[in-house]
Amino acid sequence: MDLEFASLPIQERYKLLASLVIPRPIAWISTVNAQGVNNCAPYSFFNAFAEDPPLCMISFGPRQDGLTKHTLKNIQDTGEFVVNLVDEATANAMHLSAEEIPEAESEFEKTGLTPAPALRVRHPRIAEAPVSFECRVYKTLEISPARVFVFGEIILLHAREGIVDPLTKRIDEAHYQPIGRLYANRYCTTRQRFALPGELPE
Ligand SMILES: Cc1cc2nc3c(=O)[nH]c(=O)nc-3n(C[C@H](O)[C@H](O)[C@H](O)COP(=O)(O)O)c2cc1C
Repeated sequence: MDLEFASLPIQERYKLLASLVIPRPIAWISTVNAQGVNNCAPYSFFNAFAEDPPLCMISFGPRQDGLTKHTLKNIQDTGEFVVNLVDEATANAMHLSAEEIPEAESEFEKTGLTPAPALRVRHPRIAEAPVSFECRVYKTLEISPARVFVFGEIILLHAREGIVDPLTKRIDEAHYQPIGRLYANRYCTTRQRFALPGELPE
């Protein structure tokens, strides 16, 4: 099968990209708005792309009503945000937090999550998340009226005790069980890990 992207309806392009480029990591972004309401939502058009400077990128589409997503609005207002990573224990809360609820309501309260103070940015991190990156906006790219890329410079990493070895900075796989996004409401675990022969720098 060969498909020319230019001749595909936009929704079909999305469907193909989002269900073939899998699994995707999930940025569970936490922010607080100008009224003090804590917000969080998952974003899986996301990855880390560089270490010097340390950069991640998130791709924002519009809300179903066509308006700007609350996360993007809060990022644009402050130039800061927190990317939390999702493990098996937090998967359910992450999925619930994706519902488009009014700005005055908090996904933290709705899902029973605990906001914890970040060290370098004004937004809360999610206390239940295994890993959080405190980020400052590095660059914003307005790709189209319906698509905005935000590059975040990672200022500080918070990891739950036991995940990162303080000396070697290696990950203890037994203590880190991240999940990945497949498509729609489907996810995967990372339980069946394997190595291939040969030495590569870690
Ligand atoms: C696992 C998952 C990944 C998602 N990834 C994205 C994404 O990359 N970009 C996006 O615009 N919306 C994405 N969404 C939808 C947002 O999470 C959803 O619109 C949410 O209500 C936005 O909340 P906010 O307005 O509080 O930011 C995703 C939803 C789920 C469940």
